[in-house]
Amino acid sequence: MCGIVGYLGSKEVVPLLLDGLRRLEYRGYDSAGITVLRNGSLETVRAEGKLDQLVEKLAGHAIRGSYGLGHTRWATHGAPSEQNAHPMVDSRQRVAVIHNGIIENFLTLKERLQAEGWSFTSETDTEVAANLISSYLDGDLKEAVARAAGELEGMYALAVVSTVGEREIVVTRHGPPLVIGVGEDEQFLASDPAALLAHTKDVVFLENNDVGRLTPEGIEIWDAGGARVERPVTRLNWDPIQAEKGGYKHFMLKEIHEQPLAVQETFAGRVDFERGQITLEELNLSEAAGRAIEKIDILACGTSWHAGLVGKFLIQGLARVPVEVDYGSEFRYRDPIVGPNDVAVGISQSGETADTLSALEAAADRGARLLSICNAPGSQIVRMTDGVIYTHAGPEIGVASTKAFTSQLVALYLLALYLRQIRGPALEPERLRALAHLPAAVDEVLGLEQELEQLARRYSRASDFLFLGRGINYPIALEGALKLKEISYIHAEGYPAGEMKHGPIALIDEELPIVAIATGDRVYEKVRSNMQEAKARGGIVIALTDRDPQEFDGIAAEVIQVPRVCEELQPIVNVVPLQLLAYYVGVRRGADVDQPRNLAKSVTVE
Ligand code: M6R
Repeated sequence: MCGIVGYLGSKEVVPLLLDGLRRLEYRGYDSAGITVLRNGSLETVRAEGKLDQLVEKLAGHAIRGSYGLGHTRWATHGAPSEQNAHPMVDSRQRVAVIHNGIIENFLTLKERLQAEGWSFTSETDTEVAANLISSYLDGDLKEAVARAAGELEGMYALAVVSTVGEREIVVTRHGPPLVIGVGEDEQFLASDPAALLAHTKDVVFLENNDVGRLTPEGIEIWDAGGARVERPVTRLNWDPIQAEKGGYKHFMLKEIHEQPLAVQETFAGRVDFERGQITLEELNLSEAAGRAIEKIDILACGTSWHAGLVGKFLIQGLARVPVEVDYGSEFRYRDPIVGPNDVAVGISQSGETADTLSALEAAADRGARLLSICNAPGSQIVRMTDGVIYTHAGPEIGVASTKAFTSQLVALYLLALYLRQIRGPALEPERLRALAHLPAAVDEVLGLEQELEQLARRYSRASDFLFLGRGINYPIALEGALKLKEISYIHAEGYPAGEMKHGPIALIDEELPIVAIATGDRVYEKVRSNMQEAKARGGIVIALTDRDPQEFDGIAAEVIQVPRVCEELQPIVNVVPLQLLAYYVGVRRGADVDQPRNLAKSVTVE
């Protein structure tokens, strides 16, 4: 969703703002803008489209200054246009505001402000915030922002500069994240730490309803009640180089290739191979609490939800704890039955997905203990849950989740094994040894890249794809279909292979590629039969298997052979060729694979 950056110090601000916005491009946006404060006036330049359009417009303006704000907008209220782009300046030209989120009562506020004589030039809810803050501005920007925030309903992260008063940036948030980068005699601001890494690793995450004031001398923060508070400075251990493309054409391809390391980093230090034990320190789940769990609700969205579906197989299968998996956006609306001995596990790469956070709140309201699996240190999900298993995948910039997904599957395997360890039956050492072999298996499957590029060439003109899987690989069929949809805009469906005959079989003709996952032993013969059914109706069957390709003679037009690992970890190996297939089909069709249309990396609105 929208990207927010800010800088206040002694350096030239425009290049810093543009650099920050470039680093946030992956979040998805459709217009961009900056405001710089100079000689007591606001200079604002905005453009519809990508950052290059903004840079072009800036070439005609000699804007200089040492503090200001930048924004990339993902349209919610009002079409993507220059007029609706941020920063929004109030009708008396005193404040400039950038905003991420949705102000739900903006119409009521707009009517009131119009009656008071404030005028509007856009369709946005953000302009309401700008006029509202200005209406309360009487020399103290922090007071005006706090007062205005008290009247806003919905979700917002706001950053404000003003011509009135001192050199300062005032920020507040309710929902979407805001993080302040602490420098020496300079401060940075962003909606995502990825934009700050090049400048500082010391960051302060604002809590909900905090109001913060950035000046060259430092940061002051007030809580919802107006009391001065200190928020901890977190040192980020992310390497800024990790957030660069490192010679790859796209972040997505780089991140696909980072998976052997990402999965290894996720289990490293948590598994004692000699003693045959798992330790999950940050989970904060005592053995007694783990034994008392009656049910686990996994809550997530998109790819993280697919990880949750695999997690259900792992946790139920290995620890015999009942598991339900819900979309974050649906959980609250089915009046879920949650008891005091239940645990809700939120899975989120970004840790900021509004639907997942709201679902966790609903579970907490019903008495559940909250845990999370997350890739973003210090993010909202980590702060609201009692314990976390971090996925150590490093920053994931490509909008299509790849290395975060496989790392989530490792984290879920660790959780399932940990529960087995404390609840019984005993944890067998071979289950841990299987983990040790995993990075090499993922590396081996990456060796299929050229083969998949060729395959993508042959099928990139298809208008539909079907992905089939069964058991623990059914979620991988869903994930294969989602990756292809996101990256190439080809319509794709993921289905449990056995369900095909109950409907989707009607879609099969000589034009339809059907990727069928036939690995392991448990459902192998069944999937093979489903493939035969598809072949008999003229479909183009693409087998993904750990068996001898000859077993598919006469059935499959193509065979992707992957290494065999244990059944519980096989989804991690199986998904990699599907990621590569989606990537190369997307590239072939000329799609913007790192920033697919309409998508955002962190979906911070419900
Ligand atoms: O940051 P999260 O894991 O909470 O994000 C959830 C989904 O928005 C995300 O997985 C989305 O589906 C991706 N575009 C998938 O590639």
